[in-house]
Amino acid sequence: MSELPPFYDDLTACHDEVWRRLEEGVSDRNSAFHTPALGTVDPYGRPQVRAVVLRQADRRAGTLTFHCDRRSEKASEIAGTRCAALQVYDPAAKIQVRVDGTAELHTDSWFADSVWAQARPMNRTVYGISPGPGTALAKGGSYTLPETDEAIRDGRENFCVVVIRAERLEFLYLDRRGHRRALWLRSEAGWVETWLTP
Ligand SMILES: Cc1cc2nc3c(=O)[nH]c(=O)nc-3n(C[C@H](O)[C@H](O)[C@H](O)COP(=O)(O)O)c2cc1C
Repeated sequence: MSELPPFYDDLTACHDEVWRRLEEGVSDRNSAFHTPALGTVDPYGRPQVRAVVLRQADRRAGTLTFHCDRRSEKASEIAGTRCAALQVYDPAAKIQVRVDGTAELHTDSWFADSVWAQARPMNRTVYGISPGPGTALAKGGSYTLPETDEAIRDGRENFCVVVIRAERLEFLYLDRRGHRRALWLRSEAGWVETWLTP
């Protein structure tokens, strides 16, 4: 039987593990934490879930960031509800992390400008896709991507940065000797923590 991980019975270490994994997920394309599932609620009250690329994890601020097209359903849903959830399960680590928070869309701000300026050219191209994401097409390939530098630059108006401010964080570690589940809620004094029955 393998050794239990150091965070097994230590809430502070579990919290460290959550943020370590999230931070690692930003830069490590092979990490499950690189592509969390994003949950939103649509105007009909129905849950919507899809993958996104985790672009930033800021432990001090308790925020997580991804990018999307402002014409997308997810952008409208976030604009409408101002909240979002993320979920990751890493089968190798046997760790699930769930994040529930308020979500802010940054579109025309200096902040979005600076993130756009730092984005790789390849990543900028998708924001010039036409027609916009989710449009019904007669054929699968009936869309265009910008080809000139100028056309790629024009995609800036569709680019937005979404910052999720975690209000609730949940951690689940699976082990045959007993699972461990922990919860953190944001309070004015910082994170309030507790174990939960798995
Ligand atoms: C691995 C992976 C990563 C993805 N990353 C993003 C992303 O960072 N931002 C994004 O808007 N869509 C991303 N997508 C596409 C979305 O999952 C989704 O299909 C698309 O954005 C339409 O979603 P919506 O109609 O709910 O807005 C990704 C898909 C996959 C499979």
